Amino acid sequence: MDIQENISLKEYTTFRIGGRARFFAHVRNTADLENATAFARQKKLPILVLGGGSNILVADEGFAGLVLRMEIMDVVINGNKDGKTIVSAGAGVEWDGFVAGTVRHGLHGLENLSLIPGTVGAAPVQNIGAYGAEVKNAIEWVEALDYETGVVRRFSNRECNFAYRTSFFKTPAGKKYVIIRVGFALAKHGELATSYRDIADYIKINNIAQAEITLQKVRDIVIDIRTKKLPNLAEYGTAGSFFKNPIIAKSEYEKLLNEYPMMPHYPAGEDKVKIPAAWVLDNLCGFKGYREGDVGVYKNQALVLVNFGNAASSEIKNLAQKMIDAVQEKTNIILEREVEYV
Ligand code: EPU
Repeated sequence: MDIQENISLKEYTTFRIGGRARFFAHVRNTADLENATAFARQKKLPILVLGGGSNILVADEGFAGLVLRMEIMDVVINGNKDGKTIVSAGAGVEWDGFVAGTVRHGLHGLENLSLIPGTVGAAPVQNIGAYGAEVKNAIEWVEALDYETGVVRRFSNRECNFAYRTSFFKTPAGKKYVIIRVGFALAKHGELATSYRDIADYIKINNIAQAEITLQKVRDIVIDIRTKKLPNLAEYGTAGSFFKNPIIAKSEYEKLLNEYPMMPHYPAGEDKVKIPAAWVLDNLCGFKGYREGDVGVYKNQALVLVNFGNAASSEIKNLAQKMIDAVQEKTNIILEREVEYV
């Protein structure tokens, strides 16, 4: 296989920021992956697995190792299990194209995750979620290669250890695995999840009758909401939500509520609540629409940092730190990043 050198990573990330990769390989099948990882082992190079590049910020200095650009593209119906259809897709398959296909085939489970940028292989890593759904609820298994040994193994859903925007693949032990393909268990009939506030409001405002709410309609609604709230990647450099929504103790939340009675929250397990970071950044810290030079915060969503032109990675990092500091000062909460720094 062909290993390229000194390839600019800017074009491979949705932030459109970042220097060059010392080595770069297009991985189109398992054999490519085995060869590329053997090359990295032999040269003792660190590895960066790249899908759609929609959740990373690459440093202007670039990456002094081997980038694996995942382009494994097979989509296969793998039979049935417990009344569900198992569909597997290669790590390089574009996420929303895959979701569109499942909806076209009348398969339920991924419709609320429509229009999320990125690839199938990246979806389990951070357990992508939106509009009341998380991908962990549709994943049957994940096949991955251990790049230290070259051995391929299949993880069950439980072994993936999914939680809010995280999984085993984000832990130190999980980072040595490169995801090859993912198996999804999708239902031919299923309940449509329309209770998330944005979807419920949309149905009400647009007077959509219950009978009209089909699988395809839910996908269309999600696409419409996302298009209005989130920046168009063709127009802006961005990686979507920059921070995770913090999960804090209920007692902490109650203290904050005394000071900020309008603060929203969602239940997050026993004695814990999730706070929308966007609300805090917008209403308490005034960051919505904030701009300095080529970096800023999107005008319709305070959780989304934007590269308006030729921003340096350091400028995004400085703005992110400023936002972390402001939130800490107002609420004592320390925001965690969703976007990974490379
Ligand atoms: N809000 C504000 N100001 C803003 C934006 C939002 O006050 O600028 C308020 C909203 O009114 C609402 C709350 O904050 O009360 C939450 O907003 P929203 O429903 O837009 O969702 P979010 O918590 O900001 C999460 C995900 C998004 C996902 C949406 C929709 C995280 C970190 N982000 O955002 O995911 O699309 O819900 O389900 O969990 C991503 O991960 O890249 C991403 C875009």
